[in-house]
Amino acid sequence: MPINDDSENDILNPTATTPLSELMVGRRTLLAGGFASAAVLFFGTPASASSGSGSVASAAAKTKLSSGVGGPSLGFSSIAASTVDGVVVPEGYTADAILAWGDPIMSDGPAFSEDASNSAADQQLQMGMGHDGIQYFPLEDENAHGILAMNHEYTTNNLLFPDGDADWTAEKTLKEQAAHGVAVVEVMKGDDGSWGPVDSDRNRRITPNTPMEFTGPATGHRLVQTDGDPEGVAPVGTLNNCGNGVTPWGTLLTTEENFNGYFWEETEGAADAITAEQAEINARYGVAGTGFGYQWASTDERWRADLNPNEPNRFGWIVEIDPYDPTSTPKKRTALGRFKHEGAAVTTSKNGRAVVYMGDDQRFDYLYKFVSKYPWQQEIDAGRSPLDEGTLYAAVFNGDGTGQWQPLTAGRGPLTSDKGFADQGDIVVKARMAADLYGATPMDRPEWTTVHPERPYEGFVTLTNNTRRTSPNPANPRVENRWGHIIRWEENSYPTGRDPESTTFRWEFFVIAGPGDGVDGSTTTASDNFGSPDGLWMDNNNRLWIQTDGGQPDGANNQMLCANTETSEIKRFLTGPVDCEVTGAAQTPDGTTMFINIQHPGDGGTPEDPSATSSFPNGGRPRPATVVIQKDDGGVIGT
Ligand code: FEO
Ligand code: CA
Ligand code: CA
Ligand code: CA
Repeated sequence: MPINDDSENDILNPTATTPLSELMVGRRTLLAGGFASAAVLFFGTPASASSGSGSVASAAAKTKLSSGVGGPSLGFSSIAASTVDGVVVPEGYTADAILAWGDPIMSDGPAFSEDASNSAADQQLQMGMGHDGIQYFPLEDENAHGILAMNHEYTTNNLLFPDGDADWTAEKTLKEQAAHGVAVVEVMKGDDGSWGPVDSDRNRRITPNTPMEFTGPATGHRLVQTDGDPEGVAPVGTLNNCGNGVTPWGTLLTTEENFNGYFWEETEGAADAITAEQAEINARYGVAGTGFGYQWASTDERWRADLNPNEPNRFGWIVEIDPYDPTSTPKKRTALGRFKHEGAAVTTSKNGRAVVYMGDDQRFDYLYKFVSKYPWQQEIDAGRSPLDEGTLYAAVFNGDGTGQWQPLTAGRGPLTSDKGFADQGDIVVKARMAADLYGATPMDRPEWTTVHPERPYEGFVTLTNNTRRTSPNPANPRVENRWGHIIRWEENSYPTGRDPESTTFRWEFFVIAGPGDGVDGSTTTASDNFGSPDGLWMDNNNRLWIQTDGGQPDGANNQMLCANTETSEIKRFLTGPVDCEVTGAAQTPDGTTMFINIQHPGDGGTPEDPSATSSFPNGGRPRPATVVIQKDDGGVIGT
């Protein structure tokens, strides 16, 4: 979402100001004297943060999860921060835009119209808007031929339509819906080294109107039944797909983030069918009023939450898509919980179980993980999904550098019928509310997660920013956290050792973002500084890529940096065009081609002057696009 979009900015967690995590894990002393007195920035001044459980500075000192030596080389020269309206990469690299919004994904598809006059039917056959998470699925010639699957998170209507939001019609609803969702596109590297789409039967658009299936504990649950689907098994569509992930069995996990903003929960004169229970759910998930201003509900009653109170409960899930099979039905994997999903990083435990890390991007919401009940290979071989049975956990970060994963399991701990959790379906539909009762740690907007490819017990999460934090907690130490930070954790449990299945972990700050050299507590350098980390991905060669979405030091454009996580060296690798965010990252298996996305370039444009702030990528109306990065000498990206 763009910098000034308020969608993730509401505070919907009632426990935010008095975190239940502090009430329920036996550290009441913190409430009495800890947080109030720690409401100042304390990097470099550890004494001010002292509390019953130790300061954040001491937490970091106790853990030291990195070796401090070795790691991958960052063999490029760091580039300067930029306000240039284009993509800038280091010397020795090229960056080409492909698959821009509106490009047809079939060779006989309708061409993009520069005046935005394409119809809804045209848009259905073209690349969507708001390019976000991207994954590469190799085909036979794996480093030169594959499938890109990417998200189209949201639309900028001043650019999508010739007249913006004016004179809303059903056709406008359909076009806007067709610009959302997911694109699956086969791509190939030509003899000249450049990449482009292939006219393939695999090419596919998935939108808010694509038929899907529920699987897992919410399937058929009373809270997902609707008049159109009384059995509660066949949801329609996916939307606000933000980050994503790839499973070891070769499928895409796409995420549903700010679904709440599409619903109208109050419409003048409507009879209110919302129960007290649903009103509570809506309050916790931000389904309110007329949402973020989307007008779908004015022409399509499905988006009227006052008439269809359970329809919002059918969004906020992780959706699994098989990009290799264009006839496959996308599956909403409900065991992974319902929240404002950002990304899904999958790894394998020592026992072969699938482990999925997931952020819930809202101020003061939580970090989650899912551990499959059975080894994933066994389930895949038996024709079952590993993601339909397992344990969902929410994270508690302690001040001494330790943490716990609290299991959100019906009948266990506080999750009982009298609290509204009669079965696992209740838990996953109301995952945020279950995590509240377990005292998960309210975070500064958890966005993407990633896991070290060689050390599956080691992971990272971006906390993008939270300017409304007034009370620091150990893992979110800055009040008015304008610049964000990145946390590293290491799973560890006795006696099995370091294993993603563990229910305990150690953690530390990997970097505190900001202007650098200590300003605002930042641990970046002043030259390679950044703010609002969002996209995060560690590649096969252990380079960590950090992408930004939000305010940058000195008003620079959003960017992508590369980190060596052993030495904590961070270098700026790419800067994006004006008004954009840089998001999504994937590479060919040999690491010589990287794909990233540029979202909402020039979204300050108007119907009268669409190119008012940017004309990326083609000199006209600004369009989100995929950027292909290659090294001129054919080497691995980042070397
Ligand atoms: Fe869609 Fe949290 O960014
Ligand atoms: Ca975003
Ligand atoms: Ca994001
Ligand atoms: Ca973001």
